[in-house]
Amino acid sequence: MIYIFNWLLGKNDFHDAIECLVAALEAKDVYTSGHSSRVADISYDLARMLGLRGTTLANVHVAAHLHDIGKMGIPENILNKNGKLLPHEWAIIQRHPEIGYNILIRSKRLKKIAEIVLYHHERWDGKGYPFGIKMDKIPLGSRIIAVADSIDAMTSERSYRKAMTWEACMEEILVNKGIQFDPVVVEAAEKLWKVWRKRQETYETTELVNSV
Ligand SMILES: [Fe+2]
Ligand SMILES: [Fe+2]
Repeated sequence: MIYIFNWLLGKNDFHDAIECLVAALEAKDVYTSGHSSRVADISYDLARMLGLRGTTLANVHVAAHLHDIGKMGIPENILNKNGKLLPHEWAIIQRHPEIGYNILIRSKRLKKIAEIVLYHHERWDGKGYPFGIKMDKIPLGSRIIAVADSIDAMTSERSYRKAMTWEACMEEILVNKGIQFDPVVVEAAEKLWKVWRKRQETYETTELVNSV
């Protein structure tokens, strides 16, 4: 993680600023921070598998770490509510991509990362939010994070349900190939899921994509 920040940012003060944002997110919500780290690792692997390198790869990785930073602007009683959300509460949660964008866009150097965060809940078929844009109108980084986000949500335990097995998770991702998710990103996930399953057993933040 540290090395990719250095690669992207070059300057230590900017690197420090990103670390502060990640720390702020951790202070607010431990669950979101653990989730974001895993989504960052999965997104990094997918992006590399899809041939992204250099700054473009680093942008996807950093955006994945920060994808839910807009949840800092959502009231905790809604964010941590046990049980079904009411329609108006759901509408408030759905604001988090735009809140995240508005936080990150304050830095000109984070423009690309802010855009990836803004579109991370859009869907390939145009039924996502906040704009309902579809297919390659959605930045590739956002399409990658959308798949990684769903994989981590399904394979993590929640208070109200058990974690899904990796096999069941991949079946679910495949069912949504070309519907919710970019088919090309799903194909990359198919090549990587055995590596992720192994990593979850002994979870480490390493670049396993190089070993497949
Ligand atoms: Fe999100
Ligand atoms: Fe998320």
